[in-house]
Amino acid sequence: MPIPSQLLSECRQIVGERQVVTDSERLEPYGRDETPGLAPALPDAVVRPGSADEVSRVLRACSQHGVAVTPRGGGTGHSGGCVAVQGGVVLAFERMQRILEISADDLTADVEPGVVLQDLHAAVEERGLFYPPDPGSLDTCTLGGNVAENAGGPRALRYGVTRDYVLGLEIALPAGDRLRIGKRTVKGVSGYDLTSLIVGSEGTLAVITAVTLKLIPRPRSVATALVTFDSAATAAAAVSALFGRGILPRTLEYMDGRSIDAVRPTAPFRFPEQIDAALIVETDGDDDEATLAQLGRAVEILDRAGARSTLIAQDARQQRDLWTSRRGLTEATRKIRRIKIAEDIAVPRRRIPEALARVAALGERCGVLTAAYGHAGDGNLHVQILFDDEGQRPAVERLLHQVMAMAIELGGTLSGEHGIGIAKKKFMPLEHSAGALDLMRRLKRAFDPAGILNPGKIF
Ligand code: LAC
Ligand code: ZN
Repeated sequence: MPIPSQLLSECRQIVGERQVVTDSERLEPYGRDETPGLAPALPDAVVRPGSADEVSRVLRACSQHGVAVTPRGGGTGHSGGCVAVQGGVVLAFERMQRILEISADDLTADVEPGVVLQDLHAAVEERGLFYPPDPGSLDTCTLGGNVAENAGGPRALRYGVTRDYVLGLEIALPAGDRLRIGKRTVKGVSGYDLTSLIVGSEGTLAVITAVTLKLIPRPRSVATALVTFDSAATAAAAVSALFGRGILPRTLEYMDGRSIDAVRPTAPFRFPEQIDAALIVETDGDDDEATLAQLGRAVEILDRAGARSTLIAQDARQQRDLWTSRRGLTEATRKIRRIKIAEDIAVPRRRIPEALARVAALGERCGVLTAAYGHAGDGNLHVQILFDDEGQRPAVERLLHQVMAMAIELGGTLSGEHGIGIAKKKFMPLEHSAGALDLMRRLKRAFDPAGILNPGKIF
């Protein structure tokens, strides 16, 4: 059903003529995110509000016309959360990019949802403060999207995920009502924690119009090492050895040989030849010597657990190159085969060796190539399923199902940080009981009785 022209003219009145996009060429970039293989879905219109008031008025108009609304940040998601699968209006936050306040005294930042994560990082670090979440897309993803998907990243190991930093939110409900929820203090026990419910709700409950974030002091010193191994099994066992010794680095990233080989040609970091598996270990603190000593202790434990070689980054540039190369894995692994499916399972960290071994074995049994990298310290693995030919699709689907079931069997979850969106909803019953799913659906109806907000997601 086409979008009513009356609604379009109402939207134009609210946000201005130029902020409503309807021609298909300009809609095209809004029809996808970064989920590999996801079929594009064009919205009928993109509306770009410039303020919370405009967001609320656009929502009110859409709900009066019964038209679906899908909020969209940087479009960097990996599960289709911001793709308007049922058409309607995409609400894009490009014009709401202001950092409203950074308070060194309260250790808080207030931002509009369209602020790009990297810009927030720079602004708070300039003041000696730190906002730890660091998803791979940090140079283009936005805070609103990060909150909606509860984004993680490598530093989650020591510092936690987006949810751990969201103190309060300004939201607009689907019918347009504006609310302030949450708090500005670290402590708070006052009513239900609606803020935490909105974080990770993938734009299905409310539209975020401002975010109050918790900040911490910036660690002044960071030390980074690449530790290589002869096999995935040794690297995975080394991860467990490290935790058994009570050391918590700020990152402990795993990459298998296939993933490293894929990124090697374009990586700014010069990886040693012939790596079968590797870990990126990073420590931080306020003092260079202590930070390096902590890295040394971690490396020593990994050595005893069977590491082959260790490269300690010599300066900030080498550190940056290593992380740029690590972030390049998402793109680079797309080139291994014609089609890629990327998963995001998380298991309790002691089950990592078993999870890696079982993924490889399941892949072999189904005759499908796999690769894996990810946040090993968090038990969060980006399992890559790689194939050339649609004829393999049934085997791939079987493998996918087995990987998901395995994650749940090991006490884990379907998604560590990418969300369910449309890509993983069919697996939800593997993880959640019928009763839990029913409660989630009832919550959805309480927020969005008409079902206009980001329909077709999660369930
Ligand atoms: C990463 C993203 C894809 O870790 O989550 O590279
Ligand atoms: Zn990740």
